[in-house]
Amino acid sequence: MYSTPWMSDIVVGTMRWGIWDANYNTSDYQRMIEKSLELGFTTFDHADIYGDHTTEAGFGEVLKVQPALREQLEIVTKCGILRVCEQKPNHYIKAYDSSKEHILRSAEDSLRNLKTDYIDVLLIHRPDFLMNPDEVGEAFELLYRSGKVRSFGVSNFTSSQVELLSSAVPIGVHQLEISANALQAFSDGTLDQCLKEGIVPMAWSPLGGGVNFAASLNEELNKWANHFSTTSQVVALAWLMQHPAGILPVIGTTKEENLEKAKDALSISLDRQQWYSIYQASTGSRIP
Ligand SMILES: NC(=O)c1ccc[n+]([C@@H]2O[C@H](COP(=O)([O-])OP(=O)(O)OC[C@H]3O[C@@H](n4cnc5c(N)ncnc54)[C@H](OP(=O)(O)O)[C@@H]3O)[C@@H](O)[C@H]2O)c1
Repeated sequence: MYSTPWMSDIVVGTMRWGIWDANYNTSDYQRMIEKSLELGFTTFDHADIYGDHTTEAGFGEVLKVQPALREQLEIVTKCGILRVCEQKPNHYIKAYDSSKEHILRSAEDSLRNLKTDYIDVLLIHRPDFLMNPDEVGEAFELLYRSGKVRSFGVSNFTSSQVELLSSAVPIGVHQLEISANALQAFSDGTLDQCLKEGIVPMAWSPLGGGVNFAASLNEELNKWANHFSTTSQVVALAWLMQHPAGILPVIGTTKEENLEKAKDALSISLDRQQWYSIYQASTGSRIP
């Protein structure tokens, strides 16, 4: 049971598509969805909270008018953060909630907003220090048996938190911050665990959220960009995809041309020395 669905090598993040950034209208959402599908990027990453609980609904408007698109794509979404925003007047402080009741209610809200009757992968967005694995397991079981969610995962967990939750439910996906500028997952055991347990790692902010990297890292990425006749962003994505755990970058662009460019990362392979030269440029020191 809970077999993790096929997902595209590059996952399309929607966090910036709504009111938190690009503020798309329905035809913008449709244009970006169709462009992604045309490029073979069929997996879309959401969270209930994106756009203060409005972005899933913006995306869902496209599925409402073009229901045939649903079978052509995979939807990942997340639950478990109580965000203080206008749409949630009863939230007075940010908190994490992985109670059975919250997971079930949040999944129902996501289904309604996305205008779909199933979610491909539901993630617990952040580790909740009050998490009871058995309760999460009961919620997942109910959602799975009702056909509303097909598989499950986590985001931003430590490897021991993944191990704990895995004692109650199979975890298929772990979404973490990983980039040439965020290296922790390479050494803290989370990627080792993904590789060992067959958990699919997804890298959020694979370009560091678009914020400029340190000059030394940029210089190294640009060096290899010149070598491969591409851009430093493409090299940064290819660098992540080199890991044997099969990291799926979740790209956050709001522009069709940047979506298109990202595809080049699929055809670039870095050798060990190229890979480590970028790693070292990030840490600022030579490996021992
Ligand atoms: N699980 C979590 O806790 C968590 C946290 C954060 C994000 N996420 C997920 O990860 C996704 C990606 O995060 P992110 O948006 O921070 O990722 P990112 O891809 O690292 O950053 C995207 C930003 O980089 C800019 N950018 C500059 N040059 C670019 C280029 N050549 N190609 C592409 N983008 C370029 C984009 O601008 P343009 O729009 O102008 O291209 C955009 O502002 C989110 O959409 C969300 O789905 C998950």
